[in-house]
Amino acid sequence: MPIARSSALLAGFAAALALTSCAPKKDTIRIGEFASLTGKEAAFGQSSHKGTLLAIEELNAAGGILGKSLELITEDNQSKAGESATIVKKLISRDKIVALLGEVASSRSLEAAPICQAAKIPQVSPSSTNPAVTETGDYIFRVCFIDPFQGVVMAKFAKDTLKVRKVAVLTSVSSAYSVGLAKYFKERFVADGGVIAVEQKYSEGDKDFKAQLTAIKASGIDGIFLPGYYTEAALVCKQAKDLGLTVPVFGGDGWEAPQLVEIGGAAVEGSYYSTHYSPENRSPAVTTFLAKFKQRWKNEVPDAMAALGYDSAMVLADAMKRAGTTEGAKVRDALAATKGYVGITGTTTLDASRNANKAAVVITVKNGQFKFVESVAP
Ligand code: PHE
Repeated sequence: MPIARSSALLAGFAAALALTSCAPKKDTIRIGEFASLTGKEAAFGQSSHKGTLLAIEELNAAGGILGKSLELITEDNQSKAGESATIVKKLISRDKIVALLGEVASSRSLEAAPICQAAKIPQVSPSSTNPAVTETGDYIFRVCFIDPFQGVVMAKFAKDTLKVRKVAVLTSVSSAYSVGLAKYFKERFVADGGVIAVEQKYSEGDKDFKAQLTAIKASGIDGIFLPGYYTEAALVCKQAKDLGLTVPVFGGDGWEAPQLVEIGGAAVEGSYYSTHYSPENRSPAVTTFLAKFKQRWKNEVPDAMAALGYDSAMVLADAMKRAGTTEGAKVRDALAATKGYVGITGTTTLDASRNANKAAVVITVKNGQFKFVESVAP
């Protein structure tokens, strides 16, 4: 019987957690997942989880792998710092998972990575883009591009397409992702002759950005780079407009969530962000995935996190099949040898640093919708 404990998503997470037992069933392969199912970045965790669960269900419907069913055990970190370490330790010691999927946000993947490395449990992050995640050790992988590439994509886009020269950068100092992406963007933008006229900072959860935006306005910039997550990005766009700032605002994959438009409204119209995938892509792989995902999840259109969540589970399963075992060291070796795996977000070949090199797409907000602008090859 296909087992996916987190299908209890619909029935409530509390019930799902209470149900978790200790001993793995003989005929199942236990894969752990940690995600921000609730709290500030719930949109990330929910979306990624839906993609991951769809993949696990599909694998089970096709007979499982290595003659066993896959059992996905999902734990919620509530988007809170510190929680991921606790729940990942629990997944390893109590639930005896053989591999871990997650997280979206880099700071939370970074909490889990040293724990997985020490326990020799392979971890595959679907969408954490900060380089430090996989630098933690040889058991830590990701199926997405990294921020040195994403920063270059947006620096070039700012210069060549938006034609901005003098930019403000507003960084979330409590997010490894934001700090890294700001750095890589700045390096490239300046190397290409651009000017960073002003740099301002905030922390996750801040709601009032008027002081930073007033300083930004006074510096006479013609664009704002905002490498943060969707909640703050939307609030910054709103408050920028309130202050009469009309320059283009642009960011990275952390902007991607329906809440960007729900919170930002008209203020996010005409803004841009880079991400990993667009549902407007008409490739056979994406078309099939769209249909399956919509059928499974009440007609919801999968975003980048969903697509990467799906790919992360499939790449892990592929490695287990090739390894012929779920033993940590062997699965690690098979993951490291991943080559030419064709998924939803492109082809995954894991390099010597355990990262994938994939194209980025640039999206704009138009009439409240996310619209594909261009694709940028690595
Ligand atoms: N790349 C972001 C991070 O590392 C997370 C993210 C991925 C957000 C994809 C949205 C879409 O923190």
